[in-house]
Parts: sequence; structure tokens; C-alpha cells
Amino acid sequence: MSTRIRWLGHSCLLLETNGQNVLIDPFLTGNPKAAATAEQVPADLILISHGHGDHVGDAVAIAQRTGATVLSNYEISTWLQQAPRGLSKLHGLQHGGGYTFDSGIRVKLTLAFHGSALPDGSNGGNPCGFLITCADGIKLYDAADTGLFGDMALIGEEGLDLAILPIGDYYTMGPDDAVRAVKLLKPRFVLPIHYNTFPPITQDASAWAARVKGETPATPVVLQPGEWFEIPSKQSSGRA
Ligand code: NI
Ligand code: MN
Repeated sequence: MSTRIRWLGHSCLLLETNGQNVLIDPFLTGNPKAAATAEQVPADLILISHGHGDHVGDAVAIAQRTGATVLSNYEISTWLQQAPRGLSKLHGLQHGGGYTFDSGIRVKLTLAFHGSALPDGSNGGNPCGFLITCADGIKLYDAADTGLFGDMALIGEEGLDLAILPIGDYYTMGPDDAVRAVKLLKPRFVLPIHYNTFPPITQDASAWAARVKGETPATPVVLQPGEWFEIPSKQSSGRA
């Protein structure tokens, strides 16, 4: 059993674990870096971090096509249930709350400092990140859209295999604060997202990765949209 993750551009990620496809922040239509289409991407579970269009994206259409369950905060979950969206397989959590699926995947909502208005102006509650524990024990933290905050140290105490961090600046933390986030989170691996989609968030991910290598014990993983990263188990990488 292996756990791997594919970057589909911007904040959209596909996590494949224990035979399950977990699709995160599925902004594909209108995403200039999208490495998949809303008509083809697989999903058993969809996670939405906050209400902005570049995160809700194609979630409704994909959930309708695949029958996937959608997990988000309570307000977004309620909005997804309302007409004309009409979804019914929903989990609406709040910060600090988690849910363990029959597949063995556990998702906990974490803090994020950002906005969350929905595309039609509805109240999307508070933005969040995700702490995902896979059935094989692999732990991932997707910070989603947020600035740096000190309580990332508490999330780091969970023992992270992979941290997924925005580095774009402008709407979220930029490269400098993302390096500080790595120091708080202490993950084995770190994957940058939310950059180079649009001109205001242009960044040099290789330069950032070099800084992570030099200034922290974490191993940076820079992907091109469409590429996979198989998360090594703790044993196989020789680090406890
Ligand atoms: Ni946003
Ligand atoms: Mn965003």
C-alpha cells in the first residue's frame, strides 16, 4: 500500500491512498496550469479549504459526476446542499474537528488566516487547512491559503510526513514566511503550491527549495503540474 500525491496546478491536489482518490481544492476549469479536466479527474472524496473560486472550483460538477463525498467547513457544506447545487453527501466540520471515514482516512480541519466568501457572495465561514491521516499512517498537512501563524508548531507536533504550503505571496504567505512555516511544522517533506498560476503570485520554486534545504531539515519536493510524488514510509526513508 502506498500513498502518493499529484499536483494538478494551483492548490489542486489528488491524493491516492488505500484505493481512495482524495481531490483537494479542485480548481481546474479556468486554471491556466490545470493538469487535468473536471470531466476526467477521479474523486471519492473532495476537500474544500475555503469559499474562494480558485478552491471551490469545479467541486459541484465533479461531485455530481463521481458521487464523491465533499468535506469542508459547516457553512460551505450548507451552501453545497442548497439549490441549485443540491449535493447530499457532505461533511461540514469546523476547526479542530475531524472525521474518520470507513476507508481509514481521517481529515481534521486546521486554522487558516485568509478570507472565505463563496463565488456568489454567500458566507463561506472561516477558511481552513487540512490535517490528513491516511490508513497507512502517512500524515499530511495542507495549509491551503493562509499567512504564517505560530500555532503551526502545534500542527507540527502531530509528526508530519508531508507539509503542503503556499509560497505565492500576495494572497498567502510568500517564500520567506513559508520557510519559517517549515521550521515550525518540521515535516519530512514539503511541497510548495499556490504559485505561478497568475502574475501576482509568480515565484521561483527552485530557489525556495534551495533555501528549505539549506535552512531546515526538511526535504523540498518541487513538482510540475501533473507530476506525482510517492510519499516514502517512515521506515523506508530511514527517519523516525
Ligand atoms: Ni483564497
Ligand atoms: Mn487561493
